[in-house]
Amino acid sequence: MPLVGFGTYQLPIDQAECCVREALKAGFRHIDSAEGYNNEEGTGRGIQAAGVSRNDIFVTTKLFPGYTQWGAPEKTYEQTVQTLKRQLTQLRLDYVDLYLIHAPLSELRLEQWSALVALKKSGLTRHIGVSNYNEERIQEILDAGLEKPEADQVEFHPMCARINLTRYMKEHAIAPIAYSSLAPLSTWRTGEGQGGEVLAGMKEECQLVTKEIATKLKVSEAALLLRWGLQHGYCVLTKSSKPERIRENINVFDFEIPDDDMARLNRLNRDQAFAWAASGLDPMQVDPSPK
Ligand SMILES: NC(=O)c1ccc[n+]([C@@H]2O[C@H](COP(=O)([O-])OP(=O)(O)OC[C@H]3O[C@@H](n4cnc5c(N)ncnc54)[C@H](OP(=O)(O)O)[C@@H]3O)[C@@H](O)[C@H]2O)c1
Repeated sequence: MPLVGFGTYQLPIDQAECCVREALKAGFRHIDSAEGYNNEEGTGRGIQAAGVSRNDIFVTTKLFPGYTQWGAPEKTYEQTVQTLKRQLTQLRLDYVDLYLIHAPLSELRLEQWSALVALKKSGLTRHIGVSNYNEERIQEILDAGLEKPEADQVEFHPMCARINLTRYMKEHAIAPIAYSSLAPLSTWRTGEGQGGEVLAGMKEECQLVTKEIATKLKVSEAALLLRWGLQHGYCVLTKSSKPERIRENINVFDFEIPDDDMARLNRLNRDQAFAWAASGLDPMQVDPSPK
């Protein structure tokens, strides 16, 4: 799995097309999509337009499992299988590299997981994993005697360092994938309706430290935060609608954060997540009883 991926959340269909094409042109080889982003048609067109060989790119997408409190019916085994088939048509692909359950929002999550295991066997996805699963939710799969998730995609940045979960993933050889690495920045989700203003007041100290270290290392604050995730052993995802930022965000391999600066960034941890805050839901803490 290429260690830096381009995410497509909050990109309207046409913008997803341009930005995915731009990201692949800039050197990204990992695209992160989801049923719930409602833009997979654009992502598929962008992948096709970039003209990069299918073997050279790694495409992840996610199942929206349903959530009764939002009036979204929970997906059964068969509906899960049909959903990936529909997504593949929109993405213009024969298979994805990684298929994830977007969050443990459904009581049917073990049934949905069994469907992912079958989808992997059938070759429609090469790998399977979860997102927003804490240790208990992963353990539930293992206790049921089902195949282990190969990856867990979670919010991860200096203010949300998930120390126990990160250790658990390492012990179980589950690949950690970071989303919203840039959440501490003042430029994160500032567009109309993107929700970045929620809890923004909590980020001041982190922003000061990030700015100081980035200036000292002569790198952008975005690059510093992405690099912090990489140095913790995570694959990192990042999204931008702007070509210059897309190009900037892939440049994270030509510098290293020294140990003392890593330690300073580590001390900013508040176990505070931001990415889902505008929805009023913490996807790591919901607990629908499994059926
Ligand atoms: N599994 C999940 O529940 C989940 C949740 C959230 C995200 N994700 C995935 O992870 C991906 C990344 O998370 P994210 O969308 O929160 O992205 P992110 O890369 O952490 O942050 C994107 C935000 O930061 C801004 N930005 C990007 N590059 C910048 C730079 N170099 N300097 C300053 N500001 C910059 C962007 O603005 P502009 O667009 O205006 O440049 C945008 O508002 C998502 O797209 C999605 O694929 C998954």
